[in-house]
Amino acid sequence: MIRSALMNVMTAAALKAGRGLKRDFGEVENLQVSLKGPGDFVTAADKRAEAVLFEELSKARPGYGFLMEEGGEVEGTDKSHQWIIDPLDGTTNFLHGLPIFAISVALAREGQIVAGLIYNPATDDMFITEKGQGAYLNNRRLRVAARRDLSDSLIACGVPHLGKAKDHPRFKLELAAVMTKAMNVRRLGAASLDLAYVAAGRCDAYWERGLQAWDIAAGILLVREAGGYVSDADGGSAMLDKGSVCAGNEYVQRKLLDVLKTGV
Ligand code: IPD
Ligand code: CA
Ligand code: CA
Repeated sequence: MIRSALMNVMTAAALKAGRGLKRDFGEVENLQVSLKGPGDFVTAADKRAEAVLFEELSKARPGYGFLMEEGGEVEGTDKSHQWIIDPLDGTTNFLHGLPIFAISVALAREGQIVAGLIYNPATDDMFITEKGQGAYLNNRRLRVAARRDLSDSLIACGVPHLGKAKDHPRFKLELAAVMTKAMNVRRLGAASLDLAYVAAGRCDAYWERGLQAWDIAAGILLVREAGGYVSDADGGSAMLDKGSVCAGNEYVQRKLLDVLKTGV
């Protein structure tokens, strides 16, 4: 278990923001049946969660900078620290009443991710990690799955939504290639949890393109601290810059990368 002051600060902020999201998630079900739908309500819930995280983390660590999905970049007086935050990852799931969404918070020190947290308030799954300290789910140490063959592996992925139709041809080629080798494929709808599930051995590997730093910063450290490997989807180390990721254990991650190459 990680009991550092930093992790206390991060978990307290996430639990507070998570309480709001959980309440709002309950309300979404009521709005689902209204003609207007829950769209605006969810946008407001997302912003509320971000405001709580911003306030709590600013109070606890004055001067740290922020990179947030809604509020963008907020420079701090402390130039060596930056929080990277997605207050609601898996918005589409949240909007449709599917309990697969999370708060994702990472801390970068001198540009290196040193701590990460992914919290799903609907299931109370709290994934935490600090560099060199391992990865945990609710006090249980995590380890990536041990499977070595793609034919036994469950692979998570992300499908580009309709607004990103220009990315569909490449995705279709990659998916087709993966389908010929892997046991099966899942599209869960929250990149942070896709990575957390790889860290927890629930999925054997995961790839996606078209992501942002706040979707994956915490999850990358989590997978590595659970003994896994992470690269960008082309095998390099530009995950945050390219917004792409391929994660798994040392065997399956490499094999998935090879298959993705054949799909391009
Ligand atoms: C999205 C989710 C989704 C991924 C998208 C992301 P949001 O984040 O992580 O799984 O496929 O690319 O934008 O919009 O729900 O925060
Ligand atoms: Ca989001
Ligand atoms: Ca996101």
